[in-house]
Amino acid sequence: MASASRCFTRALRTTAPTLRSTTTRSARFAIPQQTFRQQSRRGYASQPEQADTYEGNPSAMMWGAGALLVGAAGYGLYNYKPELFGKEAKAKGIFQPRFEDYQKVYDAVAKKLADEDDYDDGSYGPVLLRLAWHASGTYDAATGTGGSNGATMRFAPESDHGANAGLKAARDFLEPIKQQFPWITYSDLWILSGVAAVQEMQGPKIPFRPGRQDRDVSFCTPDGRLPDASKEQNHIRAIFGRMGFDDREMVALSGAHALGRCHSDRSGFDGPWTFSPTTLTNDYYKLLLDEKWAWKKWNGPKQFEDVKTKSLMMLPTDMALIKDKAFRAHVERYAKDNDAFFKEFSDAVLRLFELGVPFVAAEDQRWTFKSSFD
Ligand code: HEM
Repeated sequence: MASASRCFTRALRTTAPTLRSTTTRSARFAIPQQTFRQQSRRGYASQPEQADTYEGNPSAMMWGAGALLVGAAGYGLYNYKPELFGKEAKAKGIFQPRFEDYQKVYDAVAKKLADEDDYDDGSYGPVLLRLAWHASGTYDAATGTGGSNGATMRFAPESDHGANAGLKAARDFLEPIKQQFPWITYSDLWILSGVAAVQEMQGPKIPFRPGRQDRDVSFCTPDGRLPDASKEQNHIRAIFGRMGFDDREMVALSGAHALGRCHSDRSGFDGPWTFSPTTLTNDYYKLLLDEKWAWKKWNGPKQFEDVKTKSLMMLPTDMALIKDKAFRAHVERYAKDNDAFFKEFSDAVLRLFELGVPFVAAEDQRWTFKSSFD
């Protein structure tokens, strides 16, 4: 396994066009630099030799070639060491992506979301958000393990955990983007895409900081850290409490179920929570309170369906949010006030996406990406 991950890292390095272009740049300029050095050596150290070598052959072509070489060497040097020409020194070796570069990745995700509208209810957005959440939701505050640093769901056993069924669709969707921008880590890409998914589905802005590093298979978290939908409030508090969230944040995060659907071939549950599963709204809370819900009669796991249309669903964990008094107070608040939901959802998702990441950038250095709606 370790060697597989080493091969993987090596493969990444060799296929990385942007990183390659840095190497190519230095290789490209190695020739003029060398020429320049030889030229100087000749000029200063070997005058007599030079006279010997070139005696009887001082053609105009030689001068022309010499001038060209000096010009090329000068150009090379200007690009390689601009500080010698009074320009700002370039960071050597590694490409250092900036906000504009991450915005380009965001734009590529947004464009692919818009282009590939034949998936599910018309968008990969929900499953991208679920990927980012399941990458982050393995965090354990007590041990500092898990969280969005690592993208360890690339590897079995984590990719095979029951809770992650179906998330291959999201990882495969993002693979061409990773190939296009090889400098971004999978772990930053997955989270950035979760941010893009929320914003492109008309949700609030989620500020973002890069800095997640990919880790190998040995950092996979044990099964059982993500919530089990067949359970209720005690379980929700145990799982999200382990990550460090309070009741209010648990209810705010659950509002993500306004998006997407359950798939019988993934979790076993079936159906969407709302009538607009590709637009983020506070409808999840409104429907929880306003509709009549009953156990669905079917040959599948226990879930609720709306009595009126029988086309919407709620999980036992969703219903627990209105059964539990303390949770219910937040459900009522969000059902009445979409702005409060958006603000608190954004804050909680930001925190979720940063769990367990040893950032270099400070908290006031987060970026807000422009969405297609700006
Ligand atoms: C008690 C907590 C939670 C439970 C038990 C739970 C459970 C589930 C289940 C069973 C599915 C259906 C998966 C499938 O069959 O494809 C699902 C989908 C989804 N969940 Fe959750 N979830 C929880 C919290 C969250 C949170 C915190 C977020 C994000 C902030 C989230 C976002 C989503 C999204 C967007 C989908 C739709 C995915 C799709 O359409 O493919 N969930 N969740």
